[in-house]
Amino acid sequence: MAMLEITNLWFNYSDKELYRDACLKLNPGEHGVLVGTNGTGKTTLLKLIVGDLLPDKGTITWEHGVTFSYLDQQLAVAQDMPVHQYLYGVYEDLFEKERQMEAYYAQSATDLDHYEALLTKAARLQEELNDSGFYALQEKVGRLTDGLGFDPDHLSWPLARLSSGQREKAYLAKMLLEEKDVLLMDEPTNFLDQLQVAWLAKYLQDYPKAFLVVSHDQAFLRQIANVVFVLENGKITRYKGDFDHFLTQHQLDMDQYRKNYEAQQRYIKKEEDFIAKHIVRATSAKAAKSHRARLAHLEVMEAPAKGEGKIFFSFPYTHPVGKIPLTVDHLVIGYDKPLLDPIAFELKEGEKIAILGENGVGKTTFLKTIRGLIPALGGSYTFLPGIVPNVFDQDEATDMSLTPFEWVHQLYPDLNNTQVRQALGNCGVQKEKALRPLSELSGGEVAKTRFAIMSLRKTNFLILDEPTNHLDQKAKDALFEAIERFPGSVLLVSHEKDFYDGLVDYELYFTKEQ
Ligand SMILES: Nc1ncnc2c1ncn2[C@@H]1O[C@H](COP(=O)(O)OP(=O)(O)OP(=O)(O)O)[C@@H](O)[C@H]1O
Ligand SMILES: [Mg+2]
Repeated sequence: MAMLEITNLWFNYSDKELYRDACLKLNPGEHGVLVGTNGTGKTTLLKLIVGDLLPDKGTITWEHGVTFSYLDQQLAVAQDMPVHQYLYGVYEDLFEKERQMEAYYAQSATDLDHYEALLTKAARLQEELNDSGFYALQEKVGRLTDGLGFDPDHLSWPLARLSSGQREKAYLAKMLLEEKDVLLMDEPTNFLDQLQVAWLAKYLQDYPKAFLVVSHDQAFLRQIANVVFVLENGKITRYKGDFDHFLTQHQLDMDQYRKNYEAQQRYIKKEEDFIAKHIVRATSAKAAKSHRARLAHLEVMEAPAKGEGKIFFSFPYTHPVGKIPLTVDHLVIGYDKPLLDPIAFELKEGEKIAILGENGVGKTTFLKTIRGLIPALGGSYTFLPGIVPNVFDQDEATDMSLTPFEWVHQLYPDLNNTQVRQALGNCGVQKEKALRPLSELSGGEVAKTRFAIMSLRKTNFLILDEPTNHLDQKAKDALFEAIERFPGSVLLVSHEKDFYDGLVDYELYFTKEQ
């Protein structure tokens, strides 16, 4: 039996049917990935699977006794708990055994009547602790926190003091330590850097149990998947095999489906023409009726998935103002102490660079410094007068109760409704989506709204901090093209090599201060 089985699932949000008779089976040991374009319902499916939402129709069944964990950003944990306590909490039952064992030993020293019985009890517990790897725990937790790039100093910090990315990493670490039968993760690479993504990919590759991971990062998917589920047109199709096999086979299937669909449409049209022509003639009305009856029984194929139409991002350009728009000279960045050795480089007009470096090394801090949001600790940065940056910052505080339409209107009160609609529509936020609060939109839809806002500003400099997070492949391609077309200078922070390769002129590595 499958560990997890979804049968004939239907679910809709007031205006949209997300699944129509969808089915999915996850078997023991399967390394599953779930893909589909933005807004198809992947996150919602995970919420249904863990029971946070209930299906309208159909069933979701976990095999008896199967355990699972879910990487949920909203996880309710005491925020004042130190990170290591949070992580070691996974082993609370083992620590309890250790306490019990020590109590027996202590008691045996005074209670001489029961000396032997107490020692036997203690020894049994000691053996159990040995067998369960209790004495290697520290090493195990250490390997994991190292792999995920935790600064050892931060392990004693309360969760609340961590950045949101670090906190998500703590959740991820805990989930991996729990080693449940099935891991459910929604876009786990968004808050990791390149090294950590590679580490997680390897970890998942070797994971002895099963998982179902949602991601848009194809390089990552290529490394972890041995079964691919694709969600489109309200249905889930299963492809056993790796991600490349899926890409090839899925394309073939889509081509075949389109051909069959078109052939069927031609057939229907021909039959309808025949019926229309002959139904009114006494001599052939009988034949026309029988054709009509046959047509009525035909199972009509659904039109192939069209997606949400074309997406078009743009970053309008003003004009050049000089040869070197940005000069960074021995710039020292950080909060209470420097994070990095002094940074020095020049960015020429029209030059595009990718800033790379480990998570937490200071890439975002650097961007915040040159945006003037936090003070430099030393050195300088100089933008030529007339340089106007256009910034993509996904952590920017946003009122999630606003709709995309209201948000754009708030920022650009002079635009009329059609202009606002157009800007949003170009970026893939169409129709009712533009009128729903951001809190009810998918990750990709919120990111696309940010790009719509950027498309309304005329600038000559782009600052983009992890712009591909949450975007599906089609949107990433559109973003790539928009950055490529932009004639001004570009500073890009991204952990997705597939994305910045071939786009930037050079890469700038940030490494920790020695
Ligand atoms: N509470 C809600 N009320 C109404 N509609 C919602 C709600 N939550 C999500 N939706 C809509 O349901 C659709 C599916 O959302 P979901 O978050 O599951 O998509 P997703 O496949 O995870 O997309 P992404 O790849 O962008 O993360 C989206 O169009 C979204 O706007
Ligand atoms: Mg999602």
